[in-house]
Amino acid sequence: MPQIGRRPRRGGVWLTYDYNGFDMAAHTNGHAKRHRHSLKQGDGRNGESGNGVAVAAKLKTAIGHRWEFLTNYLRHPTRVGAIAPSSQALAEAITEPYRNHGKPSKVLEIGAGTGPVTRYLGTVFGPKDRLDVCEISSELSDILERDVLTAPSFARGIAEGRVRLLRVPAQQIPADQSYDFIICGLPLTAFPLQDVKDVFAFIRKALAPDGVMSYFEYIGFRRTSRALALGRRRDRIREVHAYLSRNIREHQFDRRSIYQNLPPAHVRHLRFD
Ligand SMILES: C[S@@+](CC[C@H](N)C(=O)[O-])C[C@H]1O[C@@H](n2cnc3c(N)ncnc32)[C@H](O)[C@@H]1O
Repeated sequence: MPQIGRRPRRGGVWLTYDYNGFDMAAHTNGHAKRHRHSLKQGDGRNGESGNGVAVAAKLKTAIGHRWEFLTNYLRHPTRVGAIAPSSQALAEAITEPYRNHGKPSKVLEIGAGTGPVTRYLGTVFGPKDRLDVCEISSELSDILERDVLTAPSFARGIAEGRVRLLRVPAQQIPADQSYDFIICGLPLTAFPLQDVKDVFAFIRKALAPDGVMSYFEYIGFRRTSRALALGRRRDRIREVHAYLSRNIREHQFDRRSIYQNLPPAHVRHLRFD
């Protein structure tokens, strides 16, 4: 698989599974306008399903992902900014402009974590689309490489060099105005103001004309943390809040409230031109 950054560890079980125990192939049939791939339930190689061993293996992998996500959060709380991966409902909402676009597109996902959104992107990824998946954590990148991008839905894109894993901070990706869609999973509300500004500056440079940035934030999080925080933390939250609010006012063209997520989240879609 084409990659930028450190070489990954090898090995591990080759599995595809639906993150929230949801039948992704059946679900996307009703919604996605883009090309769809039917995901095999089972071990990803022979499509077996329903037997106890496969179910136990899926469960073990899912628990492993959640555990790795949580330990990453405990090690880097402000970099991860969430204690659990996003839900299928959020993955659907944040990919909506891309799914509805209907033309070959270049997509960048930043802050992919254990890949709930990446996995969903695989089900709507078109034969001429390109996808770069960026994750700063080496442990979470290993999971993406081993358990997410090995899904059959990505096989052709990876073989043709249209799907890449970028093991670097998002800000180090060359910003050449080439992405039609940037799906941002970064915990912006937990970042210092300068980092939020750097991320927005990068995204604005990396988006093609008319490109769309989509991101999510937990409902009420900014308001609650502003009310509860003290001292310098409160100053930071106020500054970030003002900066995000201005961008939302000036550039947001759509917003969805997703209650089937823990915690519930607003998904925001912005265009800068
Ligand atoms: C809130 S988690 C979201 C994970 C996933 N997208 C989801 O929805 O479950 C944020 C992720 O962003 C990653 N991250 C933080 N800063 C980053 C950066 N500068 N570049 C790339 N990834 C970053 C973290 O390691 C973490 O996996």
